[in-house]
Amino acid sequence: MAAENFFDLTGQTAMVTGASRGLGQYFARALARAGADLILTSRRSEEIAPFAAEMRALGRSVVTLDLDVRERASIERMGEQVKALGGQVQILVNNAGCNVRKPALEVSWEDWNLVLDTNLRGSFFVAQALARGMARHGYGRVINIGSVTSVAGYAGLGPYCASRGGIRQLTMSLADDWGRYGITVNCLAPGWFQTAQNRVMYEDAEWVRYLEDRIPLKRAGLPNDLDGAVVFLASEASRYVTGQTLLVDGGISTGAVRATRQAKAGKKSEGN
Ligand SMILES: NC(=O)c1ccc[n+]([C@@H]2O[C@H](COP(=O)([O-])OP(=O)(O)OC[C@H]3O[C@@H](n4cnc5c(N)ncnc54)[C@H](OP(=O)(O)O)[C@@H]3O)[C@@H](O)[C@H]2O)c1
Repeated sequence: MAAENFFDLTGQTAMVTGASRGLGQYFARALARAGADLILTSRRSEEIAPFAAEMRALGRSVVTLDLDVRERASIERMGEQVKALGGQVQILVNNAGCNVRKPALEVSWEDWNLVLDTNLRGSFFVAQALARGMARHGYGRVINIGSVTSVAGYAGLGPYCASRGGIRQLTMSLADDWGRYGITVNCLAPGWFQTAQNRVMYEDAEWVRYLEDRIPLKRAGLPNDLDGAVVFLASEASRYVTGQTLLVDGGISTGAVRATRQAKAGKKSEGN
């Protein structure tokens, strides 16, 4: 008998929010390669057209939708559009997100609202909109995108760390709430991947050297490094996994601790 292919997503539909660039496209491509059809969203869905064409060339059905996750009306409209499409959405990758890098003393109300409304409130209500259909069908996979900041705090990233820590807690709460409907909810937490969101930092070669030295695997993430984790969490392979945070970070979440210890040890030895 042929071995069961736990990772095959043929016949399933995955929605990926924030699919106009960056990690959203990495996730969507990995899911499409595993067989999933796609619903791709962005605030300007026309921007997804070239990527959607690439995914259709893989033989997948692709629908693109406008979605602003900060806007209640936009999320409600998306829910209606998905219902009107008929069929079932089995997989959600809650990827749309943003960041504001500022010392905490300079963070404004507007900065706070932008980051929390997008990353945390948006993820919750997008998940809620799709989970209604998943619950009716008794099956679903919700994958919330977190970050190393879901488990560690960094200066200059107050609202972002709060939103990503919140995503981890929200993941556990939703897993507890929705398990009864056959829906698993997990958090995929990437480390450092070069995208539009952090391009400015990668322009500083010295900073990149410092970063890569702190990563136990000694390099930043590459696009395909997230494929296995997202397909795992989207598929039958993870059927008894829920409420978890899977860090895909080259080990930096452990390395950060190590760097702190080394720094302290270094200081002590200087004193000696
Ligand atoms: N890059 C990393 O190293 C890294 C690490 C850990 C976690 N993350 C997280 O992973 C996600 C993707 O990151 P990325 O680096 O690919 O960022 P990015 O290049 O800036 O892309 C962000 C995506 O989110 C969408 N978006 C932003 N605000 C939105 C809103 N209000 N409504 C709907 N969509 C919105 C954008 O779409 P439109 O502008 O087209 O609407 C875009 O597609 C983010 O949540 C980020 O925080 C990134």
